[in-house]
Amino acid sequence: MISSRATAVAHPNLALIKYWGKRDSERVLPYTGSLSLTLDVFPTRTSVRLDPSLSQDSFSLNDAEVEGGALERVRAFLDLVRERAGQRTHARVVSQNSVPTGAGLASSASGFAALATAASAAYGLPTDTASLSRLARRGSGSACRSIIEDLAVWHPGVGHDEEADATSFAEKVPGPRLAMVIAVVSAAQKSVSSRIAMKQTAETSPFFDGWVSSTTKDLEDMQSALAAEDYTRVGELTESNALRMHAAINGNRPVIRYLSPTSVALFDAAGQLRGEGLEVYATADAGPNVAVLCREADLEQTRAAFAVRFPELELIAARSGPGAYLTEDA
Ligand code: PMV
Repeated sequence: MISSRATAVAHPNLALIKYWGKRDSERVLPYTGSLSLTLDVFPTRTSVRLDPSLSQDSFSLNDAEVEGGALERVRAFLDLVRERAGQRTHARVVSQNSVPTGAGLASSASGFAALATAASAAYGLPTDTASLSRLARRGSGSACRSIIEDLAVWHPGVGHDEEADATSFAEKVPGPRLAMVIAVVSAAQKSVSSRIAMKQTAETSPFFDGWVSSTTKDLEDMQSALAAEDYTRVGELTESNALRMHAAINGNRPVIRYLSPTSVALFDAAGQLRGEGLEVYATADAGPNVAVLCREADLEQTRAAFAVRFPELELIAARSGPGAYLTEDA
């Protein structure tokens, strides 16, 4: 058998309306839809090479062999790909990922979007965006949005089981030109993974039901605001939805608190800058880093305003980025 090989590139995304909670863990089906901006920074480049001489899949990340839980996640994902493709050949996966892993900057999103795209091409599965998005979702929920360029809405899927699996994917939505400044409060691995923490929120937080109902409404409002190019409303919904997610998480037992004092200071600074006429809004995922949403035209001014207030922090300016794509082997 001739070995087959494909390489793909994908970028992280940051949610304006967050995904937090799975109604079906096996199929990675969310309680609510979510909406994100794919970024043009921190690409992941992954190649998948089928090799009949391998008795197991192997995975190297940034030139180091990966073992343990991360390797098992990649193997489980490739098992799903092989099952769908009707194949048994194992693969060598080689990935270069420039996102600080596990820092709440969505490394799993770009990682599984790139892996889904490369593995689909290598194993001969469909490579249309809906199919890739559905597949990437199984690796990590938010990865389904990194298949799509710019603004992506992830549909929660209709009904249950196979029907929901078939209808839960991300697709592009129109909207204004947005950008973000990411303030790296900590590049260290987060203490509790989003996978575990969101399960605990659904099971233990008394605020989870409120999170689900208010996020369903926020997503509808966000889509209307984007369609109307109403940037102010987009920003208000973004900041409020993030704080509601953290409020729901703050109800977890055992306790988890992702935002640090510096994170909170960054939210405060966004509010102060709005008061001074620079329209920026803060958001944060499952970690202390804060992303500041701005109009694309205000990106440099926004970065400069935060650099003055937080000279000790690394600030990354990001514009809207491409969806996952196949590329020539490196
Ligand atoms: O896809 P996961 O399992 O890494 O979860 C991502 C959850 C958040 O980043 C906090 C929110 C989101 O919608 O991306």
